[in-house]
Amino acid sequence: MELTDVIAARRSIRKFKQEDISTDSVRVLLDAARLAPSGSNLQPARFIVAQSVASKEALGRCTPYKFIAKAAVIFVCCADLATITTRDARVGELLQEGAFEGVDMDMNDPSAVSPALDAEAVKAYLTMNVAIAIEHIVLKAVDLGLGSCWLGRFDRDKVRKFLALDENIYPVVLLPVGYPDQLPKARPRFPLDKYVLKTI
Ligand SMILES: Cc1cc2nc3c(=O)[nH]c(=O)nc-3n(C[C@H](O)[C@H](O)[C@H](O)COP(=O)(O)O)c2cc1C
Repeated sequence: MELTDVIAARRSIRKFKQEDISTDSVRVLLDAARLAPSGSNLQPARFIVAQSVASKEALGRCTPYKFIAKAAVIFVCCADLATITTRDARVGELLQEGAFEGVDMDMNDPSAVSPALDAEAVKAYLTMNVAIAIEHIVLKAVDLGLGSCWLGRFDRDKVRKFLALDENIYPVVLLPVGYPDQLPKARPRFPLDKYVLKTI
């Protein structure tokens, strides 16, 4: 599908057909996430792939959205908070790869230095990066004829406990994916002039 068509066709899908998706499709979706950009190339996105009936039902008990148990797969989309400590290594790789070669930049500009972030700021920053990877999955899913729904409302502690997640793995969103069993109309959006504060 053309990217413009994928963007226009995407909807939040909250009803799925009882139909599995192939292992290859799951891999393609995860690879779309892997190719997402991230600040300093930290690549903080981590996924738990829930495909068994038992695991999907268990995740369904961690959220008001019981429909997720019927999805073919649920991606528990997480941020690895420890990746913030790997900034020097990742930037080193970028430098080695020539990412900034010949780039017009002023390294004496005060904002060239990475700021020290407190724990909440690290979480917010890494969550922003994970969101990009999630939306790559969401859009690629449409391209494969699949649907999904971002779910930010879930019991993080319950999910953490059920999955026995490491302390540094922060669950961001539950993303059920499967073949849509509904064709929702486009939801309201503000007109473009509301999005554009000013053109300068
Ligand atoms: C970060 C984020 C969190 C969301 N969390 C939920 C959620 O907890 N429950 C839900 O039903 N939909 C959730 N959604 C889906 C939105 O409700 C949906 O995107 C919005 O209503 C527009 O509809 P559309 O996606 O069909 O265009 C979330 C979307 C995003 C991007």
